[in-house]
Amino acid sequence: MSDSQIAQAADIRRTFAIISHPDAGKTTITEKLLLFGNAIQMAGSVKSKRADRHATSDWMKMEQERGISVTTSVMQFPYKGRMVNLLDTPGHEDFSEDTYRTLTAVDSALMVIDGAKGVEERTVKLMEVCRLRTTPILTFINKMDRETRDPVEVMDEVETVLNIQCAPMTWPIGVGKGFKGVYHFYTDEIHLYKQGQGSRIPDDVRIKGLDSPEAIEVLGEDLVEELSMEVELVRGASHEFDLAAYRRGELTPVYFGTAMGNFGVREMLDGFVEYAPPPQPRDTDTREVTAHDERFTGFVFKIQANMDPKHRDRVAFLRVCSGKYEKNMKMRHVRINKDVKIPDALTFMAADRSHVEEAWPGDIIGLHNHGTIQIGDTFTIGEDMRFTGIPHFAPELFKRVRLKDPLKMKALQKGLQQLSEEGATQVFQPFDNNDLIVGAVGTLQFDVVAHRLKEEYKVECMYEAVNVKTARWIYCDDIKMLEDFKRKASTNLAYDGGGCLTYIAPTRVNLQLTQERWPDITFLATREH
Ligand code: G4P
Repeated sequence: MSDSQIAQAADIRRTFAIISHPDAGKTTITEKLLLFGNAIQMAGSVKSKRADRHATSDWMKMEQERGISVTTSVMQFPYKGRMVNLLDTPGHEDFSEDTYRTLTAVDSALMVIDGAKGVEERTVKLMEVCRLRTTPILTFINKMDRETRDPVEVMDEVETVLNIQCAPMTWPIGVGKGFKGVYHFYTDEIHLYKQGQGSRIPDDVRIKGLDSPEAIEVLGEDLVEELSMEVELVRGASHEFDLAAYRRGELTPVYFGTAMGNFGVREMLDGFVEYAPPPQPRDTDTREVTAHDERFTGFVFKIQANMDPKHRDRVAFLRVCSGKYEKNMKMRHVRINKDVKIPDALTFMAADRSHVEEAWPGDIIGLHNHGTIQIGDTFTIGEDMRFTGIPHFAPELFKRVRLKDPLKMKALQKGLQQLSEEGATQVFQPFDNNDLIVGAVGTLQFDVVAHRLKEEYKVECMYEAVNVKTARWIYCDDIKMLEDFKRKASTNLAYDGGGCLTYIAPTRVNLQLTQERWPDITFLATREH
């Protein structure tokens, strides 16, 4: 395997996720992207596949009823000489931790905004996360087939609320019922919208020249005149596209369209594969890893238990950062310092999956996990190093779990342990009693855990209030001091599912006082794996 083969494979990969507020159109746009990638034949199949899965799992039914998408899947498709990896993220805010970690595994993001609603709250939060790693953002303003707000106003809002410059790439011609298509600023072409082509790859009808005779013939003189003035105005008042500024996360190219009508999506996707960055370098505790590096490396950003109820397995999602995965290869599982043979890594295609023969930088592979893999784990071919920057947030909500059938304790422990590996909830076992405490970032997690315990582990449980307000992971180099702390603070100490020492505080004041009393002990609100 030569360096250049790895470099070539890496350079054509584009790995991204969609950030948006629920209902802005993420699912719809995902489906249209798969259509363009020839990964599905007809729009509607993603949703019907979802429906099949729901039929096999009550948990999924709950997801459907609540209108949330809990699972993350990875979709790969080729487009115009590139290999695109789209990492789906859960829409509901109670699963935001999962989304944050997924964003650590991408090289850029697509921000979908509802043209009628503008910048919404979830988008603001997700954008903050993208900022932490200066992830480049491409913007799609959706639902132009509806009565939207003035596009200039929406762009202004993106600039001021999200603090990023906007460079319009296309411009809408009319809105709502009068939506006729988009004008492309950089090719000087009008792309015409025709209704009723939402479930297939739409015809690509273009007219060269904003005020060409053909444009006047199709759009009418008045509309062309109005459009020309508007385009002039917008050109003068907005930013010009600047690739370097986009790659630095300072400027976002903006496209308009309708995901439902499958229009404007092609223009956006063409821009995406042209401008979005290939696999980017990543930091570890010893060196920077670049995608052209021949040595295989990767990190786990997500774990999903019982992903397919028929298989009842646990899958760890690994982002390949450098080198090449080959079937049957041996990898070093750095945290446990062990070489493991991986004969059967998975790739994902919407709800389907298959075994993968090889994978390259930017690709995501699924590793079967038998309890040894945790979120944040690094895999190499022998090198002792760890990728940094994959956060694990301290839960804010806590409940004690009580069994309906006390004889099911073992199954309960196993279930809670495995579900906590996914990272959305955490389980704590206090030093001083036999309680099991579940911590979560959002309330919905508790329902999901109870539901999944019943469905997947055949354990019925109830929740009770518990006197814990917040948790902090404990670190201290001084073993003697740590032992002293463990003795004196034992009533508020627990081990989490990963075996890490945790302080579970009954009040924030208690936490503060304890921190003051033990200045040499570190109390961390996020745990980096
Ligand atoms: P999400 O994943 O971001 O939550 O959004 P999703 O794609 O599910 O879209 C939310 C709703 O917005 C859906 O309607 C969808 O059909 C609609 N939608 C998406 N893109 C467009 C668009 O370009 N124009 C218009 N007019 N609507 C759009 P729904 O009624 O909730 O679901 P459905 O019954 O249509 O599937």
